Amino acid sequence: MAVQARSETGVFSDESSAKREELIELLKKAYWMEIETVMSYIANTINPDGVRAREVVEHLEEDIQAELGHAQQFGRRIKELYGVVPGSMDFTPEQSYLQPPEQQTDVVHVIRGVIEAESGAIEHYQHIIEFCDGVDFVTQDMVIDIQREEQQHKRLFEGFLREYEAEGRA
Ligand SMILES: [Fe+2]
Ligand SMILES: [Fe+2]
Repeated sequence: MAVQARSETGVFSDESSAKREELIELLKKAYWMEIETVMSYIANTINPDGVRAREVVEHLEEDIQAELGHAQQFGRRIKELYGVVPGSMDFTPEQSYLQPPEQQTDVVHVIRGVIEAESGAIEHYQHIIEFCDGVDFVTQDMVIDIQREEQQHKRLFEGFLREYEAEGRA
C-alpha cells in the first residue's frame, strides 16, 4: 500500500499560500521596525548629556537587547514561513522622531521618541495578530509575546514623561 503524502495544513497549505506571502511582508516590516529601533536606541543612549538623563539611558540600554532579540525572532519566523530575511539595501528609515535632538540634554525629546516608536510597533503588531487569527497561531502567539514587551517599554517611558510633566520640564 502506497503511503499517501500528508498535505500541509494551516498557513502552510496550498490554499493559504497568498496569505503566507502577505504575512511574510508584514513580518519583514516588523523586522525593519526592530532594526531601526536598535539603531535609534543606540544613538539615544550614547548622545544624552546630564545627570537627569542617566536613568532614562540605562533603561533604554536594556531595551536595545530586547529589540535586537525581536528582530531575530521576526527573521526566524520569516524563514520558517519559507521567506527570505531581507538584506540591508531594502531598508528604508522611518523614525524621524528619534533623530538626535538640538541639545543633548533634551532627554524629553528622547522619551517622546521612544513612546512614539513603541506605539508604532504595538499598532503594527496588533495588525499582525489580527491577520494571523485563524491563519497562523504560531506567529500570532510569538507576536502577542513581543507586543506585550513593547507595551511594557511604552508604559515605562510614559512614566518618565509623566514625571517630567509634573515638574514642568516637558
Ligand atoms: Fe521590539
Ligand atoms: Fe520596545
